[in-house]
Amino acid sequence: MKSPSKATSKTVITAALPYANGPLHIGFLLEAIQADIYARFLRSMQKDVLYICASDMHGTPIEINAKKAGMEPEKFVDKYWKEHQQDAASFLISFDNFHKTHSKENKELSEHFFTQLKKKGFIYVKNMDVIYCPKCERTLPDRYVRGTCPLCGIADQYGDVCEGCGSVLKGTDLLNPKCSLCGTTPHIKSSPHYFFKLSVFTGKLKKWINSKSADLQLEVKNWLKEWLDKGLEDWCISRDAPYFGFEIPESRKECGEVKYFYVWLDAPIGYISSTKNYCEKQSDKPGKQKICRWEDYWKKGSTHHFIGKDISYFHFLFWPAMLMAMDIPLPKLTVHGFITVNGQKMSKSRGTFFTAKEFHKLYGAEALRFYYASHLERRVLDVDLNFDEFAAVINNVLVGKLGNFCYRTLTFAEKNYSELLAPKPTENKALTKKVLSLSEKIKKNYLAQDYHAVVKNILLITDHGNAYFQKAEPWKSKDDLKTKQAVSWCANLARNLAILINPILPEFSEKVLGSLGEKDLAFADIHFRWKGKVKNVPFLVNKVEIVRKEIFPLRLTVGKILEVKDHPNADSLYLLKVDLGHLGKKQVVAGLKKHFHKEELENRKAVFVANMKPAKLRGEMSEAMILAADDSAHVSILEVQKLNPGDEVHFDGTENSHAEITFEEFIKLIITVQAGNVYHSGKKLISPLEEVKVHGLNDGARVR
Ligand code: 2FM
Ligand code: ZN
Repeated sequence: MKSPSKATSKTVITAALPYANGPLHIGFLLEAIQADIYARFLRSMQKDVLYICASDMHGTPIEINAKKAGMEPEKFVDKYWKEHQQDAASFLISFDNFHKTHSKENKELSEHFFTQLKKKGFIYVKNMDVIYCPKCERTLPDRYVRGTCPLCGIADQYGDVCEGCGSVLKGTDLLNPKCSLCGTTPHIKSSPHYFFKLSVFTGKLKKWINSKSADLQLEVKNWLKEWLDKGLEDWCISRDAPYFGFEIPESRKECGEVKYFYVWLDAPIGYISSTKNYCEKQSDKPGKQKICRWEDYWKKGSTHHFIGKDISYFHFLFWPAMLMAMDIPLPKLTVHGFITVNGQKMSKSRGTFFTAKEFHKLYGAEALRFYYASHLERRVLDVDLNFDEFAAVINNVLVGKLGNFCYRTLTFAEKNYSELLAPKPTENKALTKKVLSLSEKIKKNYLAQDYHAVVKNILLITDHGNAYFQKAEPWKSKDDLKTKQAVSWCANLARNLAILINPILPEFSEKVLGSLGEKDLAFADIHFRWKGKVKNVPFLVNKVEIVRKEIFPLRLTVGKILEVKDHPNADSLYLLKVDLGHLGKKQVVAGLKKHFHKEELENRKAVFVANMKPAKLRGEMSEAMILAADDSAHVSILEVQKLNPGDEVHFDGTENSHAEITFEEFIKLIITVQAGNVYHSGKKLISPLEEVKVHGLNDGARVR
């Protein structure tokens, strides 16, 4: 921005740290865009703002997934750390720093927090019951135990919440529990752990939530009241090995074995360590342009977290209590709801799941930014990405109104005038006044994070602009001074609109300003005195065309053949015992006996159809189906090397359905082999790790 010297108080804005455990999706982008618009707005008001994020790198799921991928956890998380930054940048998210929780800064700060809290008497050690799998030799987090819900009796539920009745559970509550990794029945054991005295902070938290400075959203205030009235339990902040995280200092001495910080202890501290890392990098730069310390932001400035409603408990109770104990001022928070796609939960099998990359390739960054902005206000509302509405908002509103006004004004000016004039103060006075007063309103809307109102008011201005241009009919009398003045006024309006929309559409804004020979303008630069040349007007914004995702009816899943037996009642059939990863172990009847010895199948990984309707075949249950290619001379299974049991493969551009399919429906599908690859309707069978290949078969071999 033009004059950073005007900067007053320092502000840190954060988006919740995404786990380095998979690609970013459009749910994360809702939050990243919501916070980005706010950060860009404050910069445009010439505030000293840092937009901070990082990868959340610790915890059991990451440790397990890294192992599954055959990678060291450090390598695994670094891969996503890099990828997430690219994805965020492609959606024009203007992070000032994107650090990592597995970093030296975060280790130091987490240890500092821990030792301080302990010194102040807020941490103690107590024995607690944990669930232990003797086969995996590990303590299981609630999510990794499956069993029957004790409240509603539905089987195969996760240990943290029952999807049948919605009850919040503990892993130790489940009946008939099984380790979700290996299927073994785990047992309960007692283990010493560190606890943070959350209960001590009840009074202070109650005071905080009612304070003006907290400025809580109404919905959030109600949840908090409920939680606080129920009473707070102390919080377990340690985890057993194996764990990917930081060792707790002195834990071996105090607990008899090494303990690790629970990921949710060091994750929010990651907000601070990313700030610290940013400041240190600034001081390292030649010229030392902007030396700062994290304390300038966190202790003397203000902080503002943007989070999803699912992580409210951590951010409104644990985190503020820790900050209070460390004498760090409390943040402000904005909570948003979930994203749905065409009214449904995001889900791969319904074709409603989009990674950031996929979405960007289809529709670009600014279409999503504009759509999200027009749905966001500072309320805990779910946002539905409805594709019909998306197309209408982008094509009729963004392109049809805002894009159209700016483009027609600028191209008309470029074509017909070598130089535009500064409008006289008396010219178009009433409309000018209206625009300036709407601009003030828009500023307030941004500050209140009511982007829905921002968009509405910007469109109101645009409508005035379009009507004015239309009425002026400049194409009829290009050479009149009056016409030139009207076009000059419109160019000024386009310039002001570009400033106003900048936090939402930074690229659009830059293009408009660029053709006026301007750049990096702030809200203070809004006026009607601009004059000059219009040059090199680029295309400003594109229409979108909705591409529907195709659903393929089979759930193509990798399974490992654990055991092969003869079918008791059929000469040509085998009974396979197959490990389908998180889907469990299944019995599969397979007609492969004529083509393979048992040893040729055992321990191999191949593609199975996991959503076949279970059926009895000659008296034996078949719960899935193995796919095999057959060219009349040879038969081959669809073997894979790198993928793991439970991973899905799919035909390029399609998503697998998870809905049950019958054998009659299955045999209608035509899947064939060409040059060793497997195809359906011209689409190749692929996965993120490897292509599925078959060897030694003639082209045209059928897969069934
Ligand atoms: O829920 C999540 O995705 C967490 N990774 C968010 C962490 S936010 C902060 F506390 F670090
Ligand atoms: Zn196990």
